[in-house]
Amino acid sequence: MAPSADHVQPWRFLVVDDPEVKKNLSDEVFSGIYSSSKFAGKAPVIIVMLAKLDVVANRIGKQIQGIHFYFIDMGIAGEHIVLQAEELGLGTCWIGWFSTKKTRKLLNIPRKYKIVSLMSMGYTEKRPSNEKKRKKLDEIVWFNKIENEK
Ligand SMILES: Cc1cc2nc3c(=O)[nH]c(=O)nc-3n(C[C@H](O)[C@H](O)[C@H](O)COP(=O)(O)O)c2cc1C
Repeated sequence: MAPSADHVQPWRFLVVDDPEVKKNLSDEVFSGIYSSSKFAGKAPVIIVMLAKLDVVANRIGKQIQGIHFYFIDMGIAGEHIVLQAEELGLGTCWIGWFSTKKTRKLLNIPRKYKIVSLMSMGYTEKRPSNEKKRKKLDEIVWFNKIENEK
């Protein structure tokens, strides 16, 4: 149900739930400089978030607006997944720090699909806490005009 620019629905999801495929993937794509993301390989499911770019919405959007709309579209759709998973008692983690090159090679992903992110999913050992502080509203919101730097 996520919205998308010009309703192009660029999202495609490659769900990796075969333990062997998932192990090969996590061994490869979370190695070297990406090893801080290794924990994600412990989750039973990794979703590869792909975008199929639409010529009109993306090329024109980028040229005229200077914005890659598909990133916004993918973020919205991905966050819908996060919220629905939460509703079902599942935990997720967006993983942006992984080898896109190795992901493409290992899973044979055609070049027409942009690899945007990974998302791990599974039942969590502990429920998420609010330990990571969020900025306060007055640190991030202006009303009507920008008066001071935040
Ligand atoms: C686009 C994106 C990419 C992210 N990439 C990673 C990642 O590669 N590794 C990781 O551990 N967490 C990653 N995260 C998770 C954030 O670090 C995390 O959401 C943030 O620190 C807030 O923590 P919380 O979600 O536990 O409250 C990513 C989140 C987003 C939205």
